[in-house]
Amino acid sequence: MNAVTLPQLPAAAYTPLGAEVFRGLTTRPRTLSPWLFYDQEGSQLFEQITELDEYYLTRTERDIFRANAGDIIAAASGPTPHGLERELTVIELGAGTATKTGLLLHAAVRRQQAVTYHAIDVSESALQEAQRNLTAAIPGVTFQSRVGDYTEGLGEIPADGTRRLVLYIGSSLGNFEPGDARQLLCDVRKQLAPGDMLLLGVDLVKDIPTLVAAYDDASGVTAAFNRNVLARINRELSADFDLMKFRHKVRWNGEHSRIEMHLESLMAHDVSIDALDLSLTFRRGETIHTENSYKYTIQGTQHLLAQTGFTVVENWTDAHRWFGVFLARVH
Ligand code: AVI
Repeated sequence: MNAVTLPQLPAAAYTPLGAEVFRGLTTRPRTLSPWLFYDQEGSQLFEQITELDEYYLTRTERDIFRANAGDIIAAASGPTPHGLERELTVIELGAGTATKTGLLLHAAVRRQQAVTYHAIDVSESALQEAQRNLTAAIPGVTFQSRVGDYTEGLGEIPADGTRRLVLYIGSSLGNFEPGDARQLLCDVRKQLAPGDMLLLGVDLVKDIPTLVAAYDDASGVTAAFNRNVLARINRELSADFDLMKFRHKVRWNGEHSRIEMHLESLMAHDVSIDALDLSLTFRRGETIHTENSYKYTIQGTQHLLAQTGFTVVENWTDAHRWFGVFLARVH
């Protein structure tokens, strides 16, 4: 029998970035996964996004914490069907620079004098910044960090007789497809013990102009963030994308309750990605779908948490009901 010869792909096609770019740009409709946004340049642009007037998410969640941090910590520490009141160990998934977390840690220190905080993130430099900010500002916090994928090793974090409070805030769940979001919550649940707590922050469905403006700001920062994915492919895979040939396009998809970001080719043109030995032809109007940001309802979030092994203890929102913070217990 003749041996089958598989086409030989260049080495770059087997790196996480190369494999995703190859997969995403050679299938139709073309897509790129949102994790590609976050190289150094993209992470800086995202920090700028969080300060934009139109991007209400970060400041609204921060306002919810500012108004309710004491109640959140009290509810998380309180008696449960699994036991009496307990001190907390706080663990944050995708902590980044942990800018909002200080409000919760302050409240924890007020209640229990000292708290251990474990920050988990893929970016080592973000964790270093988090440590600088938090330990200087809040005596009483013992800072621990772990670089890596946060769905692994959660259960190994020592709780030493305390209750774990896992933070998954910042609407990060919204960038996962619904099935993946469910899986992620199940993975977190599996690594926790009955009585442990999850604090989840999600962006809520609201009027369409407010949603669209948050992802299509007047100063063009989000457009630059979106186009940076092409710049990253140019830098890291020797491609020749002309960023100005792509328009930042945002649309609300009501059927799926999500904001979509796309890059739309303004003209017919060719692009080469040398490290992947790839030539691509874009038609005018053809898009690359770069991100979904799912928006939840209060009821939908409660249902999702119940489906994945949690009981909602309490939820908090802002005056406009734009953002939701849910405290849920592992049952
Ligand atoms: C990180 N994530 C929650 C942001 C969001 O709102 O979906 C990413 C983002 N994309 C464009 N602007 C912000």
